[in-house]
Amino acid sequence: MNKNIKNVIITEVGTRDGFQSEKKTIDTQDKILLIDDLVDAGFKRIEFSSFVSPKAIPQLADADQVIKQVKRKSDVTMTALVPNLRGAIRAVESKIDEIVVFLSASESHNKKNLNRTINESLIGFEEVIKLAQDSNIPVHGDISTAFGCPFEGEISVKKIVEITKEYKKLGFKGVTLGDTTGMATPPVVTKTIREIKENIPDFEITLHFHNTRGVGLANVLVGLNEGITHYESCFGGIGGCPFAPDATGNICTEDLVYLLHEMNIQTGVDLNKLIQVAQKAETILGYTLPGQVMHAGPRLKKYSVDNVPTATGG
Ligand code: COA
Ligand code: ZN
Repeated sequence: MNKNIKNVIITEVGTRDGFQSEKKTIDTQDKILLIDDLVDAGFKRIEFSSFVSPKAIPQLADADQVIKQVKRKSDVTMTALVPNLRGAIRAVESKIDEIVVFLSASESHNKKNLNRTINESLIGFEEVIKLAQDSNIPVHGDISTAFGCPFEGEISVKKIVEITKEYKKLGFKGVTLGDTTGMATPPVVTKTIREIKENIPDFEITLHFHNTRGVGLANVLVGLNEGITHYESCFGGIGGCPFAPDATGNICTEDLVYLLHEMNIQTGVDLNKLIQVAQKAETILGYTLPGQVMHAGPRLKKYSVDNVPTATGG
């Protein structure tokens, strides 16, 4: 394990990735409440929503309203997904702190998710970065299906390196490798990170895992081992892309924070406050969320002996 890592930065994506495929319309005021609570819990980076087509993602149609009403703090970076110039214009008007553009490493998923080719996405990003630079807003680039595509299968590391090179050339501040349908495994993660570092040194890498096959936190351990200090996760372990088959939840932020703190890696997040956010989200959504620490509590939680029956033989 990489012993040098003492701090990790978590971008909480619960009100974006977490909510984007929820069927029940979530009240704008509930989103605002949750985001304010996340700030209070200590998050310094929050991906609060997406400036995408409201027809594509109706649940996030209120992004402009949400950001207008949340409490802003100078040390908290509010980011949102932006697919095109129209989204960038909305983002600039909303005075967000950072634009996150996204495309998919697979042509089939890019077509499903963004209705264009990868090349068309990259060409579109040129006008996004121009507007962002004129407005003094940094741009970060996501790559979806970075560790595998549900339509095309294996994604070549060469493709990820190529896109990351384009991102650097465009002037982005870093890349997020998105494991859209939870296809990442430790060897794939190791190989991808090493290839990027070798070919594009000094470019910030963020890891975004989904726990579809139960290895999300194992992949984080691999990321730490490779020296990666930026991760994205969702409170309650909710989330998933509506334009990918059988997409399921992101790695859960409470479980991630719990793991990191137990390893003496600081996140600046108050775990108890975060658990309360996840529990509030569970009430809002009206079903049991997949997060585990939010239900079990930290390992030293104490139970009363009076409430547990004693096994007797008679
Ligand atoms: N915000 C709001 N409206 C937008 C928009 C944006 N960022 N981008 C496009 N639109 C509107 C256009 O104004 C146009 O509206 P009109 O029909 O009233 O004229 C309409 O959407 C179609 O625009 P067009 O540029 O032809 O887009 P498209 O239909 O090819 O869709 C995207 C392309 C990128 C807008 C759409 O695929 C999208 O929003 N995808 C995001 C998917 C996503 O968020 N997935 C989850 C994250 S992994
Ligand atoms: Zn995701």
